[in-house]
Amino acid sequence: MKEFKVTPIRNGTVIDHIDCGQALNVLRVLGINEHNVDSTVSVLMHVASKKTGWKDVVKVEDRELDKQTVDKIALISPKATIDIIRDFNVAEKYKVMLSERVVELVRCGNPNCITNKSEPVRPEFDVEARDPPLLRCVYCDRVLDEISENLI
Ligand SMILES: Nc1ncnc2c1ncn2[C@@H]1O[C@H](COP(=O)(O)OP(=O)(O)OP(=O)(O)O)[C@@H](O)[C@H]1O
Ligand SMILES: [Mg+2]
Ligand SMILES: [Zn+2]
Repeated sequence: MKEFKVTPIRNGTVIDHIDCGQALNVLRVLGINEHNVDSTVSVLMHVASKKTGWKDVVKVEDRELDKQTVDKIALISPKATIDIIRDFNVAEKYKVMLSERVVELVRCGNPNCITNKSEPVRPEFDVEARDPPLLRCVYCDRVLDEISENLI
């Protein structure tokens, strides 16, 4: 049987090896919704993967990702790979990787935390594990439970 593939993109970014079920959260991180798509976006959900069984993939034309965006993807899909496509080829490939501290990417879940008061204090977490991510608030010491619900 003939296999149909997604139309290749000339320039853009492929976010590959997304944890199965996280593609829509990745779109949210990218800020892509029905009102602001201005180039082709392909979303593949539940794709067979040699490495991990099942994965999601998101392909965005004419866009490269800044570090903050890549770090947010690392928070919801620590095994994700970023492939930068130039002239139809994979020009660069790297794995997402959080640094030791996460600053201003997620809110603390503790309503009494100083970062949730009207103080000019940016939310900041120590990264105690990367896969799955374990984030501990630098200010109130609490571990963040619902990371994808608290993305900034
Ligand atoms: N021009 C393109 N348009 C759309 N998607 C592309 C394009 N080129 C590559 N891709 C996709 O980018 C991803 C990485 O491509 P690559 O050729 O490096 O695959 P791979 O060898 O399976 O890599 P990996 O080891 O990271 O899984 C794949 O999901 C592939 O389908
Ligand atoms: Mg592959
Ligand atoms: Zn806190």
